[in-house]
Amino acid sequence: MTRVYNFSAGPAALPQEVLERLREEMLDWHGHGMSVMEMSHRGKAFVGIAQQAEADLRELLAVPSSYKVLFLQGGATAQFAGIPLNLTTPDAVVDVVNTGAWSKKAIAEAKKYCKVNVVADAASSNYAHVPPQSEWKRSPNAAYLHYTPNETIGGVEFPFVPDGDAPLVADFSSTILSRPLDVGRYGVIYAGAQKNIGPAGLVVVFDWVKRGGGLAAMAERNRAKAAKLYGAIDGSGFYRNPVAVECRSWMNVPFTLPHVELEKPFAEGAKRAGLVALEGHRSVGGMRASIYNAMPLAGVDALVEYMKEFQRTKG
Ligand SMILES: Cc1ncc(COP(=O)(O)O)c(C=O)c1O
Repeated sequence: MTRVYNFSAGPAALPQEVLERLREEMLDWHGHGMSVMEMSHRGKAFVGIAQQAEADLRELLAVPSSYKVLFLQGGATAQFAGIPLNLTTPDAVVDVVNTGAWSKKAIAEAKKYCKVNVVADAASSNYAHVPPQSEWKRSPNAAYLHYTPNETIGGVEFPFVPDGDAPLVADFSSTILSRPLDVGRYGVIYAGAQKNIGPAGLVVVFDWVKRGGGLAAMAERNRAKAAKLYGAIDGSGFYRNPVAVECRSWMNVPFTLPHVELEKPFAEGAKRAGLVALEGHRSVGGMRASIYNAMPLAGVDALVEYMKEFQRTKG
């Protein structure tokens, strides 16, 4: 068996330790003689798993008791509609910051249900920065302010939490559980599970984050991985990341090569070296390394080594 380093933006890599535990529990979960997938979703065993998942999430993020936690179907995309449908009326105004592809999708959907005021749009930098709050044109009675703390495609991260009177609604799909978060500052936080948390079997992955030292430890690891990769890109004189330095994502690191024609050989050579899913999103091209919680530092080291070698032979 050969495991690769999977840099996919999601569904993303899972920790090997978690997969090994899943394998062990597949035929017989805790003496029940069946897997979790075969259990009644109303039975005691599964209800216990769901309750533990919520308790772990609350503990990891220090979620205040006044907040509800909902595990829903439909991913983050369903919430692009679900949130305006639940929190607005057709006459209500919501404020939205447009920092890239995922903000745009949230805006297009919200427009079907309420009035949308785009307070700032990062088009001037081709979505490579977060416009400072001093430039935002906010409406006086917004039902909420929506923003995308990390743009997964552009690799642009908010270096601050917005302030103001309107409740904050944030799409944390690609940063949730990657570092501590002050939940109390938000009205609604939503996120797809398939990046930093895991697909089905959530409870096991929360458990892994807890055993790994919780979110402060995740933050330290993630910061170190991102620093290493950006350092290699910036120091190369060959690879390039277009994002303003203070807005660079710890999770999704897009980079370009000097010529588009080098992208295919780069990706093919990477695959041969066991480094997969490095192609950028089809809407923007280039390369992108997604380095969520489950990506070990050794995976980033292997990528950096490969990048150096590719530059040496093709640069
Ligand atoms: C920031 C962001 N929002 C929303 C989504 C869509 O999530 P889902 O696939 O769970 O609907 C993604 C998926 O990549 C994302 O990165």
